[in-house]
Amino acid sequence: MQISPSILTCDYAKMGEELKFVERSGVDMVHLDVMDGVFVPNFSFGPPVIKRLRPVTDLPFDVHLMMQYPDRLIDPFIDAGADIVNFHIESDAPIADTIAHIKSRGKKAALTVKPKTPVEDVFPYLDELALVLVMTVEPGFGGQHFMADMLPKVEALVKERERRGLDFVIEIDGGVNRDTAKACADAGCDVVVVGSAFFNDADAADLTRFVQSL
Ligand code: DX5
Ligand code: ZN
Repeated sequence: MQISPSILTCDYAKMGEELKFVERSGVDMVHLDVMDGVFVPNFSFGPPVIKRLRPVTDLPFDVHLMMQYPDRLIDPFIDAGADIVNFHIESDAPIADTIAHIKSRGKKAALTVKPKTPVEDVFPYLDELALVLVMTVEPGFGGQHFMADMLPKVEALVKERERRGLDFVIEIDGGVNRDTAKACADAGCDVVVVGSAFFNDADAADLTRFVQSL
């Protein structure tokens, strides 16, 4: 399984060094949590910050847009360095057009589902997606408890992917740590986002190797 640490809970006074630390830990990509204060009751950072972080590492930037109107800022996020553009199916964006626009820019399009949203809601778009992100917490904050009852969504995605011969990646986000990572792998998840557990771990490189061994 791959690991995509979220820098939401990093030390914002030294984001560049934190990103270097993430890279040295041997991770597969970096998860950048963008929050607009409307779609979720929290606010984080936007294209200017991502632009400054881009030259720090070559790791893919997995940008998670927790925004009401993500379609309005797709280009600035791509120009800033986003490689995977994840937006919520519950947002006000025109889903198919937004996916098409991300792909027209040569980037990977991904849809994210909140806990209360049936995973079947993304099925009509699977042919066009590079990745589906299953939230295992209510979006808005790091450090929340893992919702294991979301795992059947991953199993349903694996089955649908096989049935239709597709190759999108399945990612889980929220409350993943040393104790919950194996259940994600067993359900068929390809990538896990790890936020607070990564930055709080005594040995992030060991945690990374553990996740990658699953
Ligand atoms: C929550 C974010 C998650 C979160 C993960 O809205 O989308 O990426 O930062 O952090 P942990 O791993 O601490 O739940
Ligand atoms: Zn996220």
